[in-house]
Amino acid sequence: MQALHKITDAPAAPTVEAVDGPDYREAMSRIAGAVHVIATDGAGGRGGATMTAVTSVTDAPPTLLICLNRSGRLNALLRENGVFSVNTLVSGAEDLAGVFAGVGGIDHADRFATGTWATAVTGAPLLASARAAFDCRITEATDVGSHTVFLGRVEAVRLGPKEPALLYLDRAYRSVPTLD
Ligand SMILES: Cc1cc2nc3c(=O)[nH]c(=O)nc-3n(C[C@H](O)[C@H](O)[C@H](O)COP(=O)(O)O)c2cc1C
Repeated sequence: MQALHKITDAPAAPTVEAVDGPDYREAMSRIAGAVHVIATDGAGGRGGATMTAVTSVTDAPPTLLICLNRSGRLNALLRENGVFSVNTLVSGAEDLAGVFAGVGGIDHADRFATGTWATAVTGAPLLASARAAFDCRITEATDVGSHTVFLGRVEAVRLGPKEPALLYLDRAYRSVPTLD
């Protein structure tokens, strides 16, 4: 496998050295990410997790991807259920983000006692207060190291209140105000 390098001096004579996990995670912590809750339901049961690794792939056909750790129970639930929703959080939803990040060690099914949840067309739970919510059917799952990249075909979207957004930056939650 090709080694990763980091640039320690720039720009005239950059030097590079091998990069380890902490270097990579520190660099990633400098990038602001929208905070989402991924949720699923179906034959395998309900589950959900707070995630920033969510990216649009294409709008033709509408497709997004999520990167989910392989070690947690949620990975197996997604594979069994074949569906998930992406619920993008508003500022003020920090407590809900904490619950779905595992704070308090609450079981996956019991995490849904926090927030108001409806059921999407696919059967996935949809968060009523989400800025935007995407109802997805899994089309591909590819393991990459510690994580699985799930591709989700978006079958429905729900537009929520345009309230200030919740971001995660420098390992802390931040609020981004709206312009109007
Ligand atoms: C802000 C934030 C972003 C996160 N992003 C991801 C992510 O993109 N992928 C992931 O697998 N876990 C992510 N996590 C961790 C999961 O939320 C956490 O591991 C999971 O909810 C714990 O579930 P478990 O009790 O089944 O282990 C994130 C946590 C936080 C606080």
